Amino acid sequence: KKPVIMDCDPGHDDAIALLLAFASDKLEVKAVTIVAGNQTQEKTLNNALRVLSFANIEAPVARGAEKPLMRELITAPEVHGDSGLDGPELPEATLKPVDLSAIELIAKVVRESDERITLIPTGALTNIAKFILCYPELKNKIERISLMGGACVGGNWSPAAEFNILVDPEAADIVFKSGIPITMCGLDVTHRALIYEEDIERIRSVGGKVAVMVAELLEFFAKFHMDTGFEGSPLHDPCAVAWVIDPTIINTKKLHVDIETTGIHTLGATVVDYHDVLKKEKNAEVAFDIDREKFVDMLVEAMKFYQ
Ligand code: BDR
Ligand code: CA
Repeated sequence: KKPVIMDCDPGHDDAIALLLAFASDKLEVKAVTIVAGNQTQEKTLNNALRVLSFANIEAPVARGAEKPLMRELITAPEVHGDSGLDGPELPEATLKPVDLSAIELIAKVVRESDERITLIPTGALTNIAKFILCYPELKNKIERISLMGGACVGGNWSPAAEFNILVDPEAADIVFKSGIPITMCGLDVTHRALIYEEDIERIRSVGGKVAVMVAELLEFFAKFHMDTGFEGSPLHDPCAVAWVIDPTIINTKKLHVDIETTGIHTLGATVVDYHDVLKKEKNAEVAFDIDREKFVDMLVEAMKFYQ
């Protein structure tokens, strides 16, 4: 099993990414760390704890950054609601966070592991950047960062920027310059990982309270996307997990990526050197396409784990 750490801001798609990771027999989720983004850190932490408790998952969960490295926090209540996870009625969490901070927990897991760890961030990259800055000696024990963020073409929070990168561009800059191998599951691929109404019904019909809860999450998530002209909901964050579980379902191209940290119109853009104009080191596998049918099958299979 591949040891991974999930770093997230649940968030509907983050919650589903967590459930997908914990259900996989290919992955061993060593820890969950929380970042502010879709909502405040207090809310994203509470959401992660409620989802894990509801699914009977025991794992160390740690509080992370409350705000980006240098900027005010941007949240996304229009997509995820006031709680950050509107839709299903979830009981209070029984799981409690550990006493370590996110970066302390990441460092502990990485230090104690014989194998190199894969990080799967599905929110702003604040915790990951802090970890890289505070524990440079542990960098070579990170196998790869498979992240959801960025876009080669077009943003979703500005014309140029995707939400996770825009929330903390300086953190993203540190991560992309770190030398750690990166897989970037950006909007190019996640806007092809669409979930339609019939897929939601397939998930619900697996049965069991977790599958029903995921169907309710997807229904809430769908409302925003239908109103904004999508034919289905792009299931962003699970793509970053799916690539680690089975890289054959997502196709990538190795490219050089820089992060825009000063642009007037382009702050937070992932500037992808698609034609290799700069001849710089290719620091990311950029994902462009996904076998949607296999992706949906993977989600449905994951739900069976919780029956
Ligand atoms: C990303 O932004 C968040 O709202 C989602 O959880 C996802 O990580 C998509 O741009
Ligand atoms: Ca997210």
